[in-house]
Amino acid sequence: MIPLSVPHLAGNEWQYVKECLDTGWVSSVGSYVTKFEQMVAEFAGVKYGVACVNGTAALHISLRLCGVGSRDYVILPNITFIASANAVTYTNAEPIFIDVDAATWQMDLDVLEAFLKNDTFLDSNRLYLKANGQAIKAIMPVHVLGNMCDMPRLMQLAEQYHLMVVEDSTEALGSYWKGKHAGSFGKLGNFSFNGNKIISTGGGGVIVTDDEYLAKQAKHLTTQAKVSADEYIHDEIGYNYRLVNVLAAIGVAQMEQLPAFIEKKKYMFDFYATHLQGVGDIRFQK
Ligand SMILES: Cc1ncc(COP(=O)(O)O)c(C=O)c1O
Repeated sequence: MIPLSVPHLAGNEWQYVKECLDTGWVSSVGSYVTKFEQMVAEFAGVKYGVACVNGTAALHISLRLCGVGSRDYVILPNITFIASANAVTYTNAEPIFIDVDAATWQMDLDVLEAFLKNDTFLDSNRLYLKANGQAIKAIMPVHVLGNMCDMPRLMQLAEQYHLMVVEDSTEALGSYWKGKHAGSFGKLGNFSFNGNKIISTGGGGVIVTDDEYLAKQAKHLTTQAKVSADEYIHDEIGYNYRLVNVLAAIGVAQMEQLPAFIEKKKYMFDFYATHLQGVGDIRFQK
């Protein structure tokens, strides 16, 4: 058994967590939460980050912010982790699965384009499935194992067919398409920090976006949609999805080590590529 990735907690994790415990700032408000959000957003090259309890919650909120709801569809690749599809169903929408390319394991954009052309129709800038007339609201490319499909082409198709793009970039912190970071293409990108990701907070996620309004709404929805800090007034159904300061403290320490982790990943890839070259019928994800 070779794990995808194991947590490597060799930096300032102890020191930062101790600071949270010593000061009593352990819960969902605290300087590490804000710092972690800023560090992830900055690394991904976007303006805003909103920390969540995990990547699945981040995806759920992102879809809600795109107005995905009951009787809508969201397009997904047919290779992903189940959380992407689960997040769609939490909004009472349904996934439509597009086949992946055998070489890259990413959504096959020729198949996507043929589907959009043959099986959907546009009416007043909204996309509908021909088979039943239900709306297709969004598309969620999943950057499986840190790779991406041709994102500029996907973005162009999404624009042409009026689809909101929510990136499942949970596995892609440190991945770039021609210099542009994963999660920075769509309206919203989403990262995960569970135990098998390149950095880990034990559990955690961050939504990233360049849209100030969406960032504010993401924070609002993840904090029970509470309108004011002092009063118990809530203007819609929200969620208790905020990351706590103790875990964000681990996240800050992990972010400090991210460049070194990326270098290590590249070394490991080269190691496997060298030593598995010509062994049996082993082929690499392109
Ligand atoms: C592709 C994909 N989507 C979503 C998730 C969900 O993230 P989390 O486990 O943080 O909820 C993960 C990671 O587990 C993932 O790999």
